[in-house]
Amino acid sequence: MRKAKLIEFPQHGDEKGYLVVIEEKLDVPFEIKRVFYIYGSQRDALRGKHANRKSEFMLINVSGTSKVRVDYGNSTEEFDLNRAHVGVYIPKMVWKEMFDFSEDSVLLVLCSELYDPDEYIRDKAVYYSEVNQ
Ligand code: TYD
Repeated sequence: MRKAKLIEFPQHGDEKGYLVVIEEKLDVPFEIKRVFYIYGSQRDALRGKHANRKSEFMLINVSGTSKVRVDYGNSTEEFDLNRAHVGVYIPKMVWKEMFDFSEDSVLLVLCSELYDPDEYIRDKAVYYSEVNQ
């Protein structure tokens, strides 16, 4: 199974400020079909808590910070999202949880599929049985 990984995007910038470009199939390894963002999260909130049978994701904290914990079924890994030009790529069939949100956290999510609740696995026991089979 493929693992999650941090990806650094080039920053275009000068004395006026920065600009980050993300192009499908170039900067993210999929076609971008859906974009959403998560903000106003309580610091002690635990969000996500699901795996996806089809969707791949790129998570970028474009403002503020948060952390992402992934579970592959037999091991776990944690990533700090604390730079606006660095994202974490999450392949399909990886359990993910987002936590430790700063007050100004805006977590941008790029996704390879349109929203389909049926491809979300929200029960960890179901995830473990599907990923380990
Ligand atoms: P959810 O996946 O539970 O978000 P989080 O884990 O961050 O709390 O989604 C929250 C709600 O938004 C849920 O009712 C489903 C809805 N939703 C959509 O309608 N479309 C989407 O693309 C997403 C990601 C969520």
